[in-house]
Amino acid sequence: MASLAEKRIVLGITGGIAAYKSAELVRRLIDQGAVVQVVMTEAAKAFIAPLTLQALSGRPVRDSLLDPSAESGMGHIEIARWADQIIVAPASADFIARLEAGMASDLLTTVCLATSAPIALAPAMNQGMWNKPVTQRNIDRLAADGVELLGPASGAQACGDVGPGRMLEPGQIMDHLTSSGGVRVLDGTKVTITAGPTWEPLDPVRALSNHSSGKMGYAVATAAAAAGATVTLVSGPTALTPPAGIQYRPVQSAEEMLAAVEKGIEDCDVFIGVAAVADYRPAQTAASKIKKDAESVMLELIRNPDILARVAQSPKRPFTVGFAAETDQAIANARNKLKRKGLDLIAVNQVNETNNPFGSEENHLVLISKTDEIDLGRHSKSALAEHLILEIAHRYHEQHSA
Ligand code: C5P
Repeated sequence: MASLAEKRIVLGITGGIAAYKSAELVRRLIDQGAVVQVVMTEAAKAFIAPLTLQALSGRPVRDSLLDPSAESGMGHIEIARWADQIIVAPASADFIARLEAGMASDLLTTVCLATSAPIALAPAMNQGMWNKPVTQRNIDRLAADGVELLGPASGAQACGDVGPGRMLEPGQIMDHLTSSGGVRVLDGTKVTITAGPTWEPLDPVRALSNHSSGKMGYAVATAAAAAGATVTLVSGPTALTPPAGIQYRPVQSAEEMLAAVEKGIEDCDVFIGVAAVADYRPAQTAASKIKKDAESVMLELIRNPDILARVAQSPKRPFTVGFAAETDQAIANARNKLKRKGLDLIAVNQVNETNNPFGSEENHLVLISKTDEIDLGRHSKSALAEHLILEIAHRYHEQHSA
């Protein structure tokens, strides 16, 4: 899969000689599978023709704050919601100053102000302008606000000066975007994920459980962390190593899982319930090992709490995503579950002769929301997890932007 497959990137271009490099950047982004929307300032159009960028991106360039062709005259909000990532390359001194001041004086600054997507800048300007205390102050403040700075590089400048202020080459910007984290579509969000089976103790040495390996949940946690989220993984017993850079909360029973989830749920933006939680637990847990004297044993089981439904119905509910493993009428049953539990999204894995996700490296997922249904196909669990995180990020940002 191309490393930026289906990532929605707004490429902002401001006025500067380095704008000619933006054409190459668009080409490379498209090569990596990204969907690119170019937004230009008036000054940028003096350096590169919008038609060039339209031809390369396959989408009309946007340059006007009040665009009658955009839906209800709200084009800037639409673009701000749509974006997974904003890159401004080149970012001029003037644009940086306006961005720092929180101005919304043209389409690009307005989109940047309205979006909850991460913003990266590739500054390009004369070295004297770059070195001015006011520019450095603006840069420092933007960095403190979470804006990412790519460069600038140092060297010969178009004006004949030598020093810092050269825009990074498109290849260097691409390296950054496609490096481990790629586009950080969940930057700044807190995501809680449950994974694995639960063990419901019968006695000190025995438990009721199921075949969940935890692989899907761990892949989702890895993908969420790579997308920039602060991840808490609440996991039942598995043979897996917890992914690096996440908060790991090992639990055994459904009740322990619920307690661990509820601890941080007030402060959580997205909840993804991947765990195969046991529906029932033994009514009694024997204090010592049950002897095999009897020919048959009756076990009384009582219902476990539904962790996912509790989260979805909590007062400050996060964006809530469930999983469903179904053997019959998978889609119809999952649609019911989405409604009954009050979820934003449900990922259905069909359990049949051609797809048994338990323990496998592969899976076949279909995503269902109130309004749509997307078949993600059969892929490795890590590829599916990345695609799922992208879909969750789009929907989460649409709910929360502007
Ligand atoms: O109702 P069912 O078990 O099919 O729903 C599956 C979804 O609900 C999964 O996302 C699972 O993590 C979650 N679940 C839960 N607590 C339960 C049962 C299921 O969180 N007790």
